[in-house]
Order: sequence, then structure tokens, then C-alpha cells
Amino acid sequence: MSGRHFLQIPGPTNVPDRVLRAMARPTIDHRGPEFARLAREVLDGLRPIFQTSGPVVMYPSSGTGAWEAALVNTLSPGDTVIMFETGHFATLWRNMAVRLGLHVGFIAGDWRRGADVSMLDAMLVADRAHTIKAVCVVHNETSTGVTSSVEDVRRHLNAAHHPALLIVDTISSLGSIDYRHDEWDVDVTVACSQKGLMLPPGLGFLAVSEKALAVSRGAKLARSYWDWAPMIADNRSGFFPYTPPTNLLYGLREALCALMEEGLPNVFARHRRHAEATRRAVKAWGLELLAVNPEEYSSSLTAVVMPYGYDADTLRAAILDRFDLSLGTGLGQLKGHVFRIGHLGDFNDLMLGGTLSGVEMGLAAVGVPFSSGGVTAALDYLWRSAR
Ligand SMILES: Cc1ncc(COP(=O)(O)O)c(C=O)c1O
Repeated sequence: MSGRHFLQIPGPTNVPDRVLRAMARPTIDHRGPEFARLAREVLDGLRPIFQTSGPVVMYPSSGTGAWEAALVNTLSPGDTVIMFETGHFATLWRNMAVRLGLHVGFIAGDWRRGADVSMLDAMLVADRAHTIKAVCVVHNETSTGVTSSVEDVRRHLNAAHHPALLIVDTISSLGSIDYRHDEWDVDVTVACSQKGLMLPPGLGFLAVSEKALAVSRGAKLARSYWDWAPMIADNRSGFFPYTPPTNLLYGLREALCALMEEGLPNVFARHRRHAEATRRAVKAWGLELLAVNPEEYSSSLTAVVMPYGYDADTLRAAILDRFDLSLGTGLGQLKGHVFRIGHLGDFNDLMLGGTLSGVEMGLAAVGVPFSSGGVTAALDYLWRSAR
């Protein structure tokens, strides 16, 4: 097909040309002085993105690797952790924790709402022996387009005077939705490269609190590749215990520059605005949002419910085939029932206009019952709210 492909899945996201160019450089000696400068620069540059003054650890991995690293560095076999069933990714993380030998209290959810913290109180208060060692929450559930309030979870932990660690997955929120590791007193924040950071897949990140570092010294889950102690020790001088993905670090340095040039508050506002325009389109089409509560709407992506009897993947396939636009599939129990529009990362008004045009034409092409005018509603909002 001629022209550009539209990659509007909720990650991996579009990689800006300047980041692609930055990565197209010779790979250097990862034990030499030039690499050490690069590593220290990106490790320091990541802190403001997490809004932390503490260490950020980086692994050559996907987000799943960073999930595992967060658990094995802080917990011991048989420990109890609380997790919230916010959707597909929270369920995968729960499954991983069970496989690692942890007892998981999984607070049920309907995959349309954020973490149900009302259930947390009773569990924390009943846990006088402090057998619960961690509470894990997915900040932005990428399968549903629903955010959870990390501050709320922290408030409940504090109100119960419970010492459990707070571990947060920000894989599809970091660099897109306001997130404050230090202010919200989070112990381990999990992230990766291919979403708001506008990089290809391949880097996993953890921001780590002092408390998590201390707890980690007594944590007994087996760990080797994921052990953050040698990583943090070597990172001090700009090195890694094993071969790092050098060219991704060139890209990361450029992506961090781009985010800082725009300014994080502007980045968050841009994502909010594109999310609002997308929801206006969905509303005008007469389709339903999967997210139920407006205060939990995601700025990274919008999950749209298909009218009864129509298959989301048939629609997605037609849109890809005719318009060269990739949309996110429904995951797990949502397969076929929803499609997801990614509006995070390197994105602007006209890219959103093109994306929504592809959706609107696809709905018509496949014969899904809808009202036209979604694109117009979105464009109307975009030009009225343009800065
Ligand atoms: C919220 C969330 N957590 C975890 C993951 C897993 O990350 P990865 O596929 O990079 O291993 C994803 C992937 O999309 C995600 O969106």
C-alpha cells in the first residue's frame, strides 16, 4: 500500500523519526567511557519521567520481564499479595505471581472499572500478622482503557497502617498519564519502552523506593537475571552486569529529550485531549465505551464495545485491509467484543483525525449499525480546544 501505515494499537506505538535516527548509530563498547556517559544520562533522565529521585533499573526485556523483576526482587515463596482484577493484564500478572509460588488474593472486577479498593480495607485490617507483603495494581489497564487510582490504594494502605509494599504497573501510562512514584509513595513502579516512551519494544524499567531496596535484601524468591542488586551497583558507574541493548539506549536518550522539550504537563494534556476527542467520536457514532466511570477514563487508549452480533475482529481486519490502519484487538474475555483505539505516544490531531476516519469508514464498510458524524464531532472538539 502506498502512504504510511497507521499503527494505532495501544502499544507498541509510533516511534518518532528522530528516535529512529538516533538508534541508527554504530554500536559501541558497552564497557567503555562513551557508553558509561550514555547510560548515566538515560538512567538520570528517566527519574523525572517516573517523578522520582530514587534509582530506576533497566532490563533488556518486555514489560512481562519487568513484572517478574518487581516480584522476585521483593517477595519470598508463600508470601501473600493482593491484586485487582481490572482486566487481561492484571489477570496475566496474577497468573505469574501464582506460578512464582505466591498466594494471591485477587479482588474481583468486571473488566469495566478500576481497582475496587473498597474490598482492600477489610483485607488489610484483618491481616494483623501482616502476612500480606505487597499490593499490586495496574495503573492503566490496557485491555479495557480504564485507569485505577494509585493514590487511593496508597491512602487505604496508610489508613490501615499496613506495611505491605505498593507495586504499580505503569506500562501503558508512563509518559502519557500523570504518574508520581515518590509523591504517591509507590515502592516499585513497572514500565517498559514501547508505549508512552515512544521506543521499540525491548526495555523494561523499575523505579524502586528505599523501602523496596531494604525489603529486597531479605526476599527469597529465586532470581538471577532479574536481580536488581548487581544492576544498581554496576549502574552507579554507568555499566551493566550483562550486555545492554546499546542502540535502544540511544533511542531512549532521544525520546527523553523529546518528552522534556514538550514538558510533561503538556504531554499529559495532549493525551487527555486526544482521549476526549476519541470519546466524542464514539458517542456520536452511538457506540458504547467499555469504561463505565468517567473519572477512570484512560488517556492512552479507548476500548469501544461492538453492537451485539457484530465481531470486533472482523471490523479490525476490514480496516487493516482497506485503510492500512491497525487497531487493538479485544484481549481475553473481551475478544471479538471490543476494539481498542490507541492514542498514546508520538501522536497529533491530524493522526487522530485519520485514525477516526479509518474507524468510521470501516464501520460503514462492514455494515455495523452506527450514526455517522463521529469524525466531525472529534474534529470540532480538536479545533475548538487547539492551543
Ligand atoms: C498494562 C500492561 N501490563 C503488562 C504488559 C505486558 O508487557 P509486554 O507485552 O511488553 O511483556 C502490557 C502489554 O501490553 C500491558 O499493557
